[in-house]
Amino acid sequence: MNNSSQKDIENKILKLKKDRNAIILAHNYVLGEIQDIADFCGDSLELSRKAAGIPEETIVFAGVKFMAETAKILCPEKTVLHPVAGAGCPMADMATVEDVRNIKEKYPSAVTVCYVNSNADVKTEADICCTSGNAEKLVASIPEDKDIIFLPDQNLGANIARKLNRKIILWEGYCPTHMRISPEMVKRKQDEFPESETIVHLECKPEVVAIADAALSTAGMLKYAKNSTAKKLIVGTEIGMIHRLQKENPGKIFIPLSEQAVCMDMKMPELKDILNSLEKMETQIILDKETIRKAHLPIKKMLDSKF
Ligand code: 13P
Ligand code: SF4
Repeated sequence: MNNSSQKDIENKILKLKKDRNAIILAHNYVLGEIQDIADFCGDSLELSRKAAGIPEETIVFAGVKFMAETAKILCPEKTVLHPVAGAGCPMADMATVEDVRNIKEKYPSAVTVCYVNSNADVKTEADICCTSGNAEKLVASIPEDKDIIFLPDQNLGANIARKLNRKIILWEGYCPTHMRISPEMVKRKQDEFPESETIVHLECKPEVVAIADAALSTAGMLKYAKNSTAKKLIVGTEIGMIHRLQKENPGKIFIPLSEQAVCMDMKMPELKDILNSLEKMETQIILDKETIRKAHLPIKKMLDSKF
């Protein structure tokens, strides 16, 4: 797209946003061109908190479906637009509500902790939700004598279990983008840039986390990068993260662990889709009242915890 047509689309978006009393929320992994026009960019926790308190009537959610659904669950009276309806999270689809009911039957007294990267109907079966930004503190707050079922991310669950030295019943889901990052990749980059620090997402395998300087959520990475004295940081997460890290830390160099760490779903919405979404008021997130009521409970519990 040439500069003038990009500017043209941006101007149309800005005008429509006013007409529709809309706000654009974007996840840290979406295309840089969308991050740059969004009203707010963040990790899943920041986006949930933001969605819960906004005055605008319409939310345009640039991210994957579970994020837009979470916004709808938090503000059912608002119109939540998800510009590319097919943009889902493959990990979220690795847990079905039937499977969750089955595992709960097997461990009837366990606390079910559900990562927000899950579909709305799965959340209705959870006791509490978490994000990568608060999972450790939330799990630590559960009494020691309680069994914990953690779903759907086996890596996030295993990383927390290791950190807290606690047994957790893990689901077999994973993020295909983060699962591909191997300890060998990390070591190769660390050898190439010995003066750097390594930050990885908590969805990476425990073997990867073990050799990183920090394992964090995407917001945690931004905070770490800002405060670190290192001039070079190796980044083990979805490639879109580099845009914001670089923009907010122009004096530092960010080295992606893998250029192949691309979440195709996060890359689906383009600027033209945001415009189309506002023009046609599509695609609206629709959830039935009962799903909203039940899924709201574990999300609210998470937000009320203040972790
Ligand atoms: P964050 O909540 O850390 O932004 O992670 C969301 C996600 O989908 C990571 O793959
Ligand atoms: Fe899901 Fe992984 Fe994409 Fe995040 S990066 S939305 S966990 S598939």
